[in-house]
Amino acid sequence: MQDVDAIVKEALAVFEGIDDPATLEQAKARYLGKSGALTELLKELGKLPAAERPAFGSRVNAAKERLEAALKERRERIRAQKLEAQLGQEALDVTLPGRGLGVGGQHPVTRTMERIETLFRSMGFDVADGPEIETDYYNFTALNQPENHPARSMHDTFYLADGKHLLRTHTSPIQIRYLESHRPPIKIIAPGRVYRCDSDATHSPMFHQVEGLWVDERVTFADLKGVLVEFLRRFFEREDLKVRFRPSFFPFTEPSAEIDMSFGEGWLEMGGAGMVHPNVLKNVNIDSEKYQGFAFGLGPDRLAMLRYGVDDLRLFFENDLRFLKQFN
Ligand code: DAH
Repeated sequence: MQDVDAIVKEALAVFEGIDDPATLEQAKARYLGKSGALTELLKELGKLPAAERPAFGSRVNAAKERLEAALKERRERIRAQKLEAQLGQEALDVTLPGRGLGVGGQHPVTRTMERIETLFRSMGFDVADGPEIETDYYNFTALNQPENHPARSMHDTFYLADGKHLLRTHTSPIQIRYLESHRPPIKIIAPGRVYRCDSDATHSPMFHQVEGLWVDERVTFADLKGVLVEFLRRFFEREDLKVRFRPSFFPFTEPSAEIDMSFGEGWLEMGGAGMVHPNVLKNVNIDSEKYQGFAFGLGPDRLAMLRYGVDDLRLFFENDLRFLKQFN
């Protein structure tokens, strides 16, 4: 049978060599656990002559206390060492050079939008806003878009799971929202993000539009032409820029036109426009006998591509800094 002192000596040495808490608890079990060395000794107590038992018992108990105390001390030491190591690692070296501030820059589309806003403001337009999650009513119905119009299909439009809402497919619903809450004269543009199930080099499922709306007693198609030609010439800083109005169809304008601008040998489509359809004015309780106006929708992504010579629309939305840095 092992001697009490020998066990204590061995245990103390073992504890001293351990520096992680789990191993320490395992070692404790080897000496103080149910079948640990000291516990086994106590079980031998009965075999001793009655006279020796009390002395032996108290020696074993003293040994137990000694080991418990050593364990406690060791646990605390391990914790302190760990903390010191951690503090050492986290120490702040005030002599290191700073990282510097990363200088951010404006996204080319944001720059373009701001340029568009500045130009239209200078022509007397206010800037309006609307939600990107729309109802079927604002996005289609109020804009005179019939129930069976193909743009309403799941194929072209992102509908929300509730079946009631959708991601606006154009900025035109802002026309309705603004007309509902304001009375003529109304002269606004409304820039923003729009969404369609579409993706290739010239289409992104998210893109931008700028809506325009001018409603008053005497707004004519000539005003529409004047405003858009002026805008495009100033945007591209080219007085000789040619703009063409091609007959087209939109449910919310009558007559409607597609706006093209000269580009090299040919023409590029820049957006749609037309005179606000009387049904649209009726839907917002504006007297279409007294008031009339024009509306247009431009593609600022397209404007940015042309201004900066970018040939793939998707580059704008990939957030690749190598691309974006070139504009700042
Ligand atoms: N909302 C149309 C579209 O997304 C663009 C448009 C055309 C807007 C004619 C207008 C407009 O305001 O008058 O295709």
